Amino acid sequence: MAVWLLFAVLSCVLLPDPVFGITRHYTLEIKMHNVTRLCHTKSLVSVNGQFPGPKLIAREGDQLLIKVVNHVPNNISIHWHGIRQLRSGWADGPAYITQCPIQTGQSYVYNYTIVGQRGTLFYHAHISWLRATVYGPIIILPKRGVPYPFPKPHKEVPMIFGEWFNADPEAVIRQATKTGGGPNVSDAYTINGLPGPLYNCSAKDTFRLRVKPGKTYLLRLINAALNDELFFSIANHTVTVVEADAIYVKPFETDTVLIAPGQTTNLLLKTKPSYPSASFLMTARPYATGQGTFDNSTVAGVLEYEQPKHARRSSIKNLPLFTPVLPALNDTNFAAKFSNKLRSLNSKRFPANVPLKVDRKFFFTVGLGTTPCNHKNNQTCQGPTNTTMFAASISNISFTLPTKALLQSHYSGQSNGMYSPNFPWNPVVPFNYTGTPPNNTMVSTGTNVMVLRYNTSVELVMQDTSILGAESHPLHLHGFNFFVVGQGFGNFDPNKDPKNFNLVDPIERNTVGVPSGGWAAIRFLADNPGVWFMHCHLEVHTSWGLRMAWLVLDGDKPDQKLLPPPADLPKC
Ligand code: C2O
Repeated sequence: MAVWLLFAVLSCVLLPDPVFGITRHYTLEIKMHNVTRLCHTKSLVSVNGQFPGPKLIAREGDQLLIKVVNHVPNNISIHWHGIRQLRSGWADGPAYITQCPIQTGQSYVYNYTIVGQRGTLFYHAHISWLRATVYGPIIILPKRGVPYPFPKPHKEVPMIFGEWFNADPEAVIRQATKTGGGPNVSDAYTINGLPGPLYNCSAKDTFRLRVKPGKTYLLRLINAALNDELFFSIANHTVTVVEADAIYVKPFETDTVLIAPGQTTNLLLKTKPSYPSASFLMTARPYATGQGTFDNSTVAGVLEYEQPKHARRSSIKNLPLFTPVLPALNDTNFAAKFSNKLRSLNSKRFPANVPLKVDRKFFFTVGLGTTPCNHKNNQTCQGPTNTTMFAASISNISFTLPTKALLQSHYSGQSNGMYSPNFPWNPVVPFNYTGTPPNNTMVSTGTNVMVLRYNTSVELVMQDTSILGAESHPLHLHGFNFFVVGQGFGNFDPNKDPKNFNLVDPIERNTVGVPSGGWAAIRFLADNPGVWFMHCHLEVHTSWGLRMAWLVLDGDKPDQKLLPPPADLPKC
């Protein structure tokens, strides 16, 4: 004890606060791995034979060199969701946007430095639906010696939500694309890969959080589910939200948290002052607004108090188990109230640098639509009608992935034919977006990008449409954080609504839930040259085309330019 203390004191004195971080090496082997859940054994695509994948730990300022080796038959690419990738767009990961996929037997070293960020993020596969099983936490600690802006937790626990399919998720999306219908829904949700006791044949696969009384725990929630926003709650406990998408927020207490795919939320859990004679379920189930079917099941973990030594005889197993009450599956009211509570901490040390002047204002619609059935021989489709297939779009353009990565085409000056640099600033045909749907629900297709000069200050309003039913869409932007300066229901009113924008302490994040039947306004500074994907983080909507890309040009100064591509960048 004394030796340890001496060491701790000495290392504080002797090791100066490093300005630059260290270089950390990781190897992620993508391989097949047998996993059994709900009595179904399947061979799934995993990271290092672990499901979920291992957690990556770094500090703000560190450089990461992550070698990804592909041992599976599928093409693969990995995205470091929420990492800003300043000038290192080659390491961002979305297939056919910033890189060609890593082919079977090949590898690629993702090389990036974490600048000005600390908190919880995650990595996931970014090709087809492989992220269903290929994901894991990224924990970025503050620089050495820099405390959290909240009480130091006794322990930190990542809790990553996922979605389990008894079938092969690749087969699920393949079938949906073929028939034009909605994909089959998942069979369970998971916490750290475990569905918990509320499913058949699953009680032994339960995430258990063992705690001591009178302590504070930092729960790092990550929603890596494919297609579902989730409500989360712990029976008989209130939590304090302190961070969202690796940005500190003004702390607030709540019984229930709403977390969309692509979002992360850090919570402080204060345990009860003395041993309760009960255990507590921690449950999550969807917040769903669409008209399609969805997996409405509930994942549960157990919060257990380690019993003191003298009480060991009354086993934890025999204690009563309390269950939390979650909001209704379609509780949009709760969703709106919850997102209004999220505010940037906006302290001296962590200011909210909201762009106050705006160079470019854009208005995009987001929502579902249709494309004609492409079946030959009179076969019918299973879309909204039997002559149509489901599609989704931004401003009525359903985005087609190119055959070679956009960033490579841009960098080599060979954009010809690969993409069109003319994404519309406003919908080409305005209509009553949230009113009675138009008769024509067809979308157009294309690979259209929005080109921005370096350092353009952008305001973007994203408007949900009711074309095939209003629905909440968690929109994720690569390469940037943005400030959510406003949101509301109905059609955005450019004369009235901006007056109510919050330019003081809006939440800063990388994924925002565009309200069902409403709109969200965001601002960001385009200070990162490269090609940056933006899409709905409900994977089914991404597959249907609810995606686009921004192309941010180099600035004039040497440090405002995209770095050259690494030598091992995969080829298509
Ligand atoms: Cu987490 Cu483009 O995604």
